[in-house]
Amino acid sequence: MSTQSQIDRIIIFDTTLRDGEQSPGATLNVDEKLTIARQLARLGVDVIEAGFPYSSPGDFEAVQKIAQTVGTEQGPIICGLARATRQDIQTAAEALKPAVRSRIHTFIATSDIHLEYKLRKTRKEVLSIAEEMVAYAKTFMDDIEFSPEDAGRSDPEFLYEMLERAIAAGATTINIPDTVGYLTPAEFGDLIRGIKENVPNIDQAVISVHGHNDLGLAVANFLEAVKNGARQLECTVNGIGERAGNAAMEELVMALHVRRQYYNPFLGRPVDSEAPLTNIDTRQIYKTSRLVSNLTGMLVQPNKAIVGTNAFAHESGIHQDGVLKNKLTYEIMDAQLIGLTDNQIVLGKLSGRNAFRSRLKELGFDLSEQDLNKAFLRFKELADKKKEITDWDLEAIVNDEIQQSTDLFKLELVQVSCGDHACPTATVTLRTPDGQELTDAATGTGPVDAVYKAINRVMNVPNQLIEFSVQSVTAGIDAIGEVTIRLRHDDRIFSGHSANTDIIVASAQAYINALNRLYAALQLKDDRINAQHSNLETARPAPATAS
Ligand code: KIV
Ligand code: ZN
Repeated sequence: MSTQSQIDRIIIFDTTLRDGEQSPGATLNVDEKLTIARQLARLGVDVIEAGFPYSSPGDFEAVQKIAQTVGTEQGPIICGLARATRQDIQTAAEALKPAVRSRIHTFIATSDIHLEYKLRKTRKEVLSIAEEMVAYAKTFMDDIEFSPEDAGRSDPEFLYEMLERAIAAGATTINIPDTVGYLTPAEFGDLIRGIKENVPNIDQAVISVHGHNDLGLAVANFLEAVKNGARQLECTVNGIGERAGNAAMEELVMALHVRRQYYNPFLGRPVDSEAPLTNIDTRQIYKTSRLVSNLTGMLVQPNKAIVGTNAFAHESGIHQDGVLKNKLTYEIMDAQLIGLTDNQIVLGKLSGRNAFRSRLKELGFDLSEQDLNKAFLRFKELADKKKEITDWDLEAIVNDEIQQSTDLFKLELVQVSCGDHACPTATVTLRTPDGQELTDAATGTGPVDAVYKAINRVMNVPNQLIEFSVQSVTAGIDAIGEVTIRLRHDDRIFSGHSANTDIIVASAQAYINALNRLYAALQLKDDRINAQHSNLETARPAPATAS
């Protein structure tokens, strides 16, 4: 990676799989993370922060698998997060080994409030830990990123000293996080300018920014940072992340694309340069957004900029009239630019396995023979019900299969009887992890309530349903319906998603997906407790988190 002065474009560092996955309920399994990582590579992000390897064995495995399969010669840099400790750094280095290009991202807080209450350390102590740990990380690889956590609320003079020491110790990227989403755009811009002017060796590292959206200012803050010298933006797809989320990738990329004449001069380019400011293939944006939303269960609000369902819709008569006469009257970008209109009718009832396989390949899905067979069966079932199958239908089927492939409990049968004069009654049969088939029935206030009660009788995992939503994948009465649910158990949220032309089946499957995640988390907890009791636990601590 080049240094600050050699960079004439913006580096997109995607942290959907690390900071994004820290959103309540957005937990992903290893296969789901791999699927998202592959899509991020197709989207063209420069760096994928694939996880926090020391935080859990699952995160370690996911980072390692992503490093193996996506961290290829032509692929993005694969990054792993590590606190400024030897075990964290060493574990991250181990997980990243298979990647052709890898990066360790290590961090320690620098604000007085974090030092006093969280770390209970002096500034002097924190300075020397950071210096020592950056140098330690450097023994594993060249590409090292250092973040002074809560930089936005840190004393600027202390921050300058910290950054100078981290760069001297070998950091090649210094990342400035507004951890609590507190700064305004002008303040964030000033902070970056101050760093450029006051850190003597700043030219030896790339300036990166990271920020949370607590005041809804993350994207605006980043754009101001770009004007003042930031060249790497840390963001997530759909802006998912802790609390109000992170800066949204699609908003940053499209702002830089649509307004490139405005931003060009800040990157030392002629105003009218047409060269893209990022490496992102914007036509992959919509698809990536849908994938992340489906797999994390984090729905995209309809009026969300760029990827919301209303973002390109014109309801009012005046707007419709204007757009029909000339799109530019009310549109600053074409829906095609983000791949929104790429939903072609591709297959039908008579399409064979080869056509199916090759279309999936074109869409970027690389399925094993077994998964392909399962997906093909689903496709045939769908083709019997729905005449024209589009790319989005195919994506819905395959994403559904990915989610179900690691299921502990499997839905074998669901039947309901309901109507305006009937008591809604459901029967379900589930296959348990040890292969038994269990059937139960229940009544409810409606068919979905009855199904959920019947499933509860079989699975017996206490929970509270907090969100249930149904959306259609395409228009038309025969469309696939997508059900997304979120449920709470103790203080944790779990999500589930499923797609089917029958929304009762989709509802049952989405619920089982969420319960399987909850069940897996409880099992993990039990395993940990058992292991601790029998003194078999390795040196891993309780899961660590970072914002
Ligand atoms: O928000 C934050 O400060 C973080 C750091 C780990 C970069 O996520
Ligand atoms: Zn963060």
